[in-house]
Amino acid sequence: MQKHIWLSSLILFFALGMGWSSQAQVEPTLRELGQERGLRMGAGVSHFRLFNTPAYVDLLTTHYDIMTPTTELKMQALRPSPGVFDFSRSDEMIAFAQENDLDVVGHTLVWYLSMPDWLENRVLSREEAIAILEEHITTTVSRYRGEIYAWDVVNEAVSPDGTLSQNIWYESIGPEYIAMAFEWAHAADPDALLIYNDYDMEINPDKAQGVLALLRSMLAADVPIDGVGFQMHLTTWEELDLEALQALMEEIGDMGLQVKITEMDVRIGEHEGTREEALEVQAQLYRDVMTICLAVEACTSFTTWGFSDAHSWLNESGLEDPLPFDENYNPKPAFFALQSALMGVE
Ligand code: XIL
Repeated sequence: MQKHIWLSSLILFFALGMGWSSQAQVEPTLRELGQERGLRMGAGVSHFRLFNTPAYVDLLTTHYDIMTPTTELKMQALRPSPGVFDFSRSDEMIAFAQENDLDVVGHTLVWYLSMPDWLENRVLSREEAIAILEEHITTTVSRYRGEIYAWDVVNEAVSPDGTLSQNIWYESIGPEYIAMAFEWAHAADPDALLIYNDYDMEINPDKAQGVLALLRSMLAADVPIDGVGFQMHLTTWEELDLEALQALMEEIGDMGLQVKITEMDVRIGEHEGTREEALEVQAQLYRDVMTICLAVEACTSFTTWGFSDAHSWLNESGLEDPLPFDENYNPKPAFFALQSALMGVE
């Protein structure tokens, strides 16, 4: 393994030294470096781009070995009306992944912010809510049994103050909706990794404590959970306590759980200073988080929410340019930071 890294470094050295085109400079790829280091490299993807933009597909299949559909497996997308499932787009995406040697992360089975219209603002009895959620999870996970490598079973169930969020599922079922969701998912696909996914644990200690408390209670009750997803939606102007982040990831690892970086991006929109400076700070954050992930044994995948600034959810409302490739699919400082961190080069 060391030998591979050494060889990769040598290739990069010559590539940079000879001023090769940006295409050549993207060697060694994140995918191969990740494989050398035992880390899955992932990207959030959209159905539209996979089937309409060949350059997007090229970059995706070159650098990544797992992909997460960013909207197509959410309840809002899959459930046009009660009792009805529309798997047309997700089926195509999963077939694409299989043809292109990528594994798929299923995102997400239970998220109170992704509600189909027919469910939004409804008051449900406990029995009704349980029946809807069980049908949704069992049908969806069974359909892709053996085809989805990890499921984000529950997304964002903890509030910023660390308590459980008072969402529709909590209010109609009670806090046990979380354990139930994991149990149903496990019964439908015993081999899929089952993940609890959330944001801001890295910058909000109350939230981190709330998530830890939830994990402890799940483990004490033998709920089938395999890992925790850190979304990692960062900005260049907010301080990130790297030691605290590493300690938190290690604590989760010590509980016997995997850690996954599931949706990383780094906004630069409100950065004070030049764009070049912002891009350097952004690159440093990518480098730091990657370095921590490599140092924490439990950290098994590193996924960004998209990969090109041309298709980031954050660029819809401002110029955040949060990803490792620019809008023309050229590598940014953030890409080279990830690459060199994976090679163990400062
Ligand atoms: C976002 C998608 O990227 C958008 O296209 C969609 O409109 C809203 O959701 N946390 C999550 C993701 O867990 O599901 C969100 O994805 C981004 C924040």
